[in-house]
Amino acid sequence: MHVQPKYLPLRQSDFFADGRGSRTPPEGTVARGQLREDTYLHTGLIDGKPGDTMPFPATREVLERGRERFDIYCAPCHSRLGDGNGMIVQRGFRRPPSFQEPRLRQAPLGHFFDVMSNGFGVMPDYAAQVNPRDRWAIAAYIRVLQFSQNAPASALPAGQQMPSPSPLQVPSTAPSVPERKE
Ligand code: HEC
Repeated sequence: MHVQPKYLPLRQSDFFADGRGSRTPPEGTVARGQLREDTYLHTGLIDGKPGDTMPFPATREVLERGRERFDIYCAPCHSRLGDGNGMIVQRGFRRPPSFQEPRLRQAPLGHFFDVMSNGFGVMPDYAAQVNPRDRWAIAAYIRVLQFSQNAPASALPAGQQMPSPSPLQVPSTAPSVPERKE
């Protein structure tokens, strides 16, 4: 089984006149999964500028996937909160900016996609580790982190206050238990 007449990729061959085992693919051939028909999904750019929309809906599932991927690939430096105080930074790596900086709060989604795809300053790119869909999921989750620490009071559902009172100060609504008489 181990030794059998077959060609390994790019191995030499006496059979073809050009001496190569692999044939040149016909012009226009696209490898499976590499069509990249959806330009925005793969670049985050619209007319050369980062766009501010998701290429697919940011469902709860997408955001949860984004959180999982963020916590794996980004939190070591950016921290789970996105404040730039991750463990690697605490051990001496350059501190990234907080995602709460006004400039990054206003940055379009496509900017985050671009930073992950191409790197930024000393930050390496994550194109090999994180596929395009997951990069968008992370970008959407960065918006969640930004919103979670900067939500306007008007965004709260009716009946809730902000900042939340400490649970210890909230009057208990549980019916009081009458003291038992021995
Ligand atoms: C090894 C540490 C490290 C990891 C891991 C890392 N980053 Fe960064 N990131 C940095 C540093 C450092 C900077 C600042 C780079 C600079 O200004 O030279 C930065 C900058 C950024 C910026 C700001 C760009 C700007 O416009 O200022 C974004 C957005 C960002 N990172 C997103 C991510 C995301 C998303 C991930 C996960 C896929 C990630 N980073 C993973 C270190 C890291």
